[in-house]
Amino acid sequence: MSKKILLCQIAELEDVATKKVAHPLQKNLDLVLIKNQQDYYAYHNICPHFSVQLDNAKGQFFTYNQRWIMCAHHSAMFEIETGLCVDGPCKSRQLTAEPIVLENGGIYLQNCSEIVNS
Ligand code: FES
Repeated sequence: MSKKILLCQIAELEDVATKKVAHPLQKNLDLVLIKNQQDYYAYHNICPHFSVQLDNAKGQFFTYNQRWIMCAHHSAMFEIETGLCVDGPCKSRQLTAEPIVLENGGIYLQNCSEIVNS
């Protein structure tokens, strides 16, 4: 049976926003939660270029126009919807997505039993 773990409340995110949360099951790994109007995404906060966190000290993940996810280190740009790198040193590589589900006002990591058993 698939388990879910609450990551944050939906109300914590504005219409277009990002939020960094600790991965509840993997030590030393953060997730980037993204709300883009009606759509939600979760990616590992790891750039495929050098395997470092995407954000700078301010926790910024978006380009100035909030159209792309951008790595603070060498400016790789990723599609919000897919995590695909469309420009930069890791072009054509992807952020690692995590499955999430919205329920009862919360954003939940789902399929947690599969993560624990892998
Ligand atoms: S570490 Fe992200 S673009 Fe280089």
